[in-house]
Amino acid sequence: MSKLGVLISGRGSNLQAIAAAFPGEVALVLSNREQAPGLAWAAEQGIATCALPSAGREREAYDRDVVERLRAADVELVCLAGYMRLLSRVMLDAFPNLILNIHPSLLPAFPGLDATQQAIAYGVKFSGCTVHYVDQTLDGGPIIAQAVVPVIAGDTAETLAARILVEEHKLYPQAIRQALLRG
Ligand code: GRF
Repeated sequence: MSKLGVLISGRGSNLQAIAAAFPGEVALVLSNREQAPGLAWAAEQGIATCALPSAGREREAYDRDVVERLRAADVELVCLAGYMRLLSRVMLDAFPNLILNIHPSLLPAFPGLDATQQAIAYGVKFSGCTVHYVDQTLDGGPIIAQAVVPVIAGDTAETLAARILVEEHKLYPQAIRQALLRG
């Protein structure tokens, strides 16, 4: 049975979707923010959790601690789900091609923060979400899967994000299965 580690910084709705749909085990949920609602949710479910505050920490030293926690939980694949930190070489080398991320746009369009606001401002007619492997670029690693949603007249960043989120929750578990099959 595959063991996943899920890294979050906030709400954790993708974490919930993964936990519900993934046949393997979520072996650890780690958050760099102690107050992340997703961390409390995971603890309520009886999933192992770890709050590891990142504020003021040097990036590589912090990532060494994260790797140690993931290894202790015997994690095979790492899923970033609203994890608001760039990864250092320490993480990337520890889990080569074994770290996934979900982003609320059709990459390579609109990487970085406020992707749905960027999509609205540009005036695209379709957007969506992307699950990709993580490398040292910002939202730039090889794409595993995408889902498309229309942008509807009158959409705001929030209404578009909500439409995309519905697809994220279906896409992420599916992309995890694909990544595990590829080994
Ligand atoms: C999602 O929109 C995801 O695409 C982005 O951050 C958000 C996380 O939401 N990377 P949640 O914490 O999974 O609810």
